[in-house]
Amino acid sequence: MKNSNRINNIEGSKSIALSAKIEQLKSEGHNIIGLNVGEPDFPTPSPIIEATINALQENKTRYSLVQGINELRSKISSYLNQKYSLETNKNNVLLGNGSKHILYLIFQALLNEGDEVIIPAPFWVTFPESVKLAGGVPVSVNCKRDHQLDLEQIESAITKKTKAILINTPNNPTGAVYSKADLERVVKLASKYDLSIISDEAYEILTYKGCEHINISSLSEEAFNRTLTVQSFSKSFCMTGFRIGYLCANEEFINAVNKLQGHLSGNNCTFAQYGALAALDMDYTVVKGMIDELEARRDLAYELFNQIFPLEKPQGAFYLFPNIENYINKLGLKNCEEFALYILEKANVAVLPGSAFGCPNHIRIAFANSQEDIRTAFSRIKDVL
Ligand SMILES: Cc1ncc(COP(=O)(O)O)c(C=O)c1O
Repeated sequence: MKNSNRINNIEGSKSIALSAKIEQLKSEGHNIIGLNVGEPDFPTPSPIIEATINALQENKTRYSLVQGINELRSKISSYLNQKYSLETNKNNVLLGNGSKHILYLIFQALLNEGDEVIIPAPFWVTFPESVKLAGGVPVSVNCKRDHQLDLEQIESAITKKTKAILINTPNNPTGAVYSKADLERVVKLASKYDLSIISDEAYEILTYKGCEHINISSLSEEAFNRTLTVQSFSKSFCMTGFRIGYLCANEEFINAVNKLQGHLSGNNCTFAQYGALAALDMDYTVVKGMIDELEARRDLAYELFNQIFPLEKPQGAFYLFPNIENYINKLGLKNCEEFALYILEKANVAVLPGSAFGCPNHIRIAFANSQEDIRTAFSRIKDVL
């Protein structure tokens, strides 16, 4: 059997490939600390679990509306309106099976063959591949050394084929949070060249003291009309397995995506949507407790790893993205992939190579694990370096 060019044209997820090696080492008895994992180790809060169980017991196990149940879409729109002073209603919201699925839907609905999408690098692995799956061309533009957007470079990458600029704040893998001024400049560029903006805000609530997340669509009416905001319950509420993400956009685009969704997956899991409803109703102190703990882990991880790697202090999400070029040279390794493998085999700590994020000579260290794990991982890595 021959696979399609479309599938041959995309790369598999490097993080998933590494997981197989980690599983193998674990099965051989190695005690691996997984700082490669992009999800917090907290349990899903109990109100979410209870609401999901109740929904199952109440037989909420049938198809629901393709775009998602009305109660949840209304709740999400009220949440966004309150938080970002938007004026959305439920018709501006569509639910999907995680934000990965939402990104796939967006590019299928937005791009024609050969359309270009500008993606600041480093970037999350799925972005370029979902552009390619829609026949588009991902155009990578490096961020500045401090991981902030380089607006001059972005403008010079715009061509007649450019259809959209994708931004991701707080950022995976760098933890950078973009300023209001930079986001306003993105809107200006989009307006000048008539582009859409895709704003992945999967880490929306995970910003640390002194740093505020700005929702780009809330900057002006024009910004709202141009922006496709991608959101997720995965990271904010420890619901990675529930697969609940959503799109907030103008109604016309939501209707276009809904048409596709109707043929692709239909609604996403009905009872999981009731869990998501409970997440938005939950006492905020539960979420605040998680953010505070992640901030303590960020401070610890930064303080430790900064002793051995040059690094920027992340302002959001839960990743460090140090430069490891010196060590690659010192250890006589070829690249960051070999470095990640070296750390895995010698120190039994899993991290991801920067090449998976379009940025060689770096690694991504997730600090979503316990403080004890972070300390142990650090001392093991320090020892083998
Ligand atoms: C930037 C970014 N967007 C989206 C996602 C995917 O989240 P979901 O679980 O909603 O598909 C991730 C997961 O790592 C991510 O890092």
